[in-house]
Amino acid sequence: MSDAQQIPYDVVNRETIHHLVHEFYAVVLKDDALGPYFINSLGSDLDNGKWHEHFHTLDDFWLLMMIGKPGYSGDPFPPHAFLGPIYIETFEQWLKLFNEKTREYFIPSIADKFYKKAEIMAEQFIENLGLNDEDDDD
Ligand code: HEM
Repeated sequence: MSDAQQIPYDVVNRETIHHLVHEFYAVVLKDDALGPYFINSLGSDLDNGKWHEHFHTLDDFWLLMMIGKPGYSGDPFPPHAFLGPIYIETFEQWLKLFNEKTREYFIPSIADKFYKKAEIMAEQFIENLGLNDEDDDD
């Protein structure tokens, strides 16, 4: 990006979200626990067409989550139902890396909001995938 915006960003828009999302998945791809899920679905080249489409979807998703901007009209869960064996720890690792990146790219109040939204979504995925079963009392 070559505009006046400085990191950490204090504004949420398509450009700052895209920067976060792109850098986050660059790290995710290199992560031993997370990388294989994404490589299986989208390949290892962030410049390919599938990744391009995924980034566009995620930019829309985060614009909706963060500032309520209409655009994302999908259901985030279904792709996560077909990832193969996946564990609570996998989601914890995703959240850890996401937390690190949001804090690097956004001021704390905005980073906090990103993280809260992501945590709620991860909890729903964990619930939907039945990964919580052993902790449930009923
Ligand atoms: C263990 C953690 C996770 C893994 C391995 C994972 C993996 C994936 C994969 C492989 C896709 C499908 C890409 C495609 O084929 O198009 C996807 C889509 C997506 N993921 Fe995740 N994900 C994880 C956690 C999360 C979390 C916590 C969020 C939300 C904060 C999230 C949000 C999304 C969204 C919005 C999509 C696009 C759904 C659509 O197509 O409408 N993911 N994810």
